[in-house]
Amino acid sequence: MKPVCCLLYCRPGFEKESASEIMHLTQSHNIQGYIKAKADSGYLGFYPASPVELTEFNEAVKYNQMIFSRQSLFVSQILDDLPSEDRITPLLAAIQDMKLSFNDVFLETPDTNEGKELSSFCKKFSTPLTIKLERKNLIHKKSEWRLHLFFLNSSVVYIAVSHINNSSPDVMGIKRLRFPKEAPSRSTLKLEEAFKTMLTENEQALYLKNGMMAVDLGACPGGWTWQLVNRGIRVSAIDNGAMDKKLMDTGLVKEIKADGFKYLPEKPVDWLVCDMVERPMHITRLMTRWLTGGHCKYAVFNLKLPMKKRYDMVMECKEYISAELDKLNYSYKIKIKHLYHDREEVTCIVLLN
Ligand SMILES: C[S@@+](CC[C@H](N)C(=O)[O-])C[C@H]1O[C@@H](n2cnc3c(N)ncnc32)[C@H](O)[C@@H]1O
Repeated sequence: MKPVCCLLYCRPGFEKESASEIMHLTQSHNIQGYIKAKADSGYLGFYPASPVELTEFNEAVKYNQMIFSRQSLFVSQILDDLPSEDRITPLLAAIQDMKLSFNDVFLETPDTNEGKELSSFCKKFSTPLTIKLERKNLIHKKSEWRLHLFFLNSSVVYIAVSHINNSSPDVMGIKRLRFPKEAPSRSTLKLEEAFKTMLTENEQALYLKNGMMAVDLGACPGGWTWQLVNRGIRVSAIDNGAMDKKLMDTGLVKEIKADGFKYLPEKPVDWLVCDMVERPMHITRLMTRWLTGGHCKYAVFNLKLPMKKRYDMVMECKEYISAELDKLNYSYKIKIKHLYHDREEVTCIVLLN
C-alpha cells in the first residue's frame, strides 16, 4: 500500500506546530511533500509529492519523536460520499483494498465540538462494523497494524492504519484518565498523564519506586505531589502557598516556604518536578542546573508556550538541555509531549542514566 497521506491529530489550534514536526521528520528522510491543514480543525495531512511505501513512511514518521501530534496514521483512501442507507459496503471494500489485517479498530473524530457530536454515531457504528471485519477475517490479534476510521461527518471518512509500535495506543490519541477524588487539584491529571504516556510500563516501574525522594517546585495545593506520594515517594514541597491538609497528614510531605528558583536540597533527590509558571527558557535553565549539578536524576516540568513561534521555542529549550548534558558526557533521555491535559504548555521529562 502507498498511503495518500500521513494524518496527524493534534489539539485544535496547534496544526502549525504539528505541521512543523512532520515536515522536519519527512525532510530528514528525503520525503518531499506538502501540508493540508485547516486552523483549529485538530488534524492535518502531509501529502507526499511522489508515492511512498507504507513501510518507508512508517520508518520516517516516528511517533515518539513528535511533540504536538497526538496520533500519526497512514491514510489509504478518503471516502467523501458514504451513502446513509449503507455505509458498511463501501467501507469494507476500501478496507479490503489495503490487503492488511488489523489488531484492532478505532472509530475516531477530530477533538472539536463538531467531532464530539459524532461520537454517538461512531459508538453505534462500531459493533456492526467490527462484526463484519471479523467475518471477513480481517481482525487478527497478531497483526502489527491498527485500523482507524476517522470521521469528519457521517459521510466523510479517512481510512487509515497505524503501526502498533509507532503510534498512540489510545483512541483519538487521548489518554482518558479519571480524576482521583482525593487529589487536591486537577493539575494532578497532567503529571499522571505525563508518567503514563511518556514512560513505558517498565520505565514507570524503574523510575517511580516506593521510597524515592522528590522535590516539587511550585507545589501548591499539591496535585503533582499527590501523584508522587501515591507512589510512595517522599516529597519536599516548595511554595509560598499552603499545601492540602490531607496530603500533609500522609507524613510523606515536607512543606518548605521558599523561592523555587533559589531552593536547593541538602542531599541529591531522585526526582525534581516543577509546575511554576515562568518563561520557558528560565525554567529550562533551572532544570538543567539541577540535572548538571547532581541535585536530581530525573526531572519533569512544564514549559509554557509563547504566543508565537511555539515549535521553535520548544526546540530551543530541548537543544539547550541536550547541549549542556552533552558537554558533561551524560547519557540521558529527553521526552517532550503536548499532553491532552496541557493547554498552552508542553511537558518534558529528562532521565539521566
Ligand atoms: C500551577 S500552580 C501549581 C499547581 C500544582 N502543581 C498542583 O498540582 O497542585 C503554580 C504554583 O507555583 C507557585 N510558584 C510560582 N512561582 C514560584 C516561586 N518562584 N517559588 C515557589 N513557588 C512558586 C505558585 O505559588 C503556585 O502555587
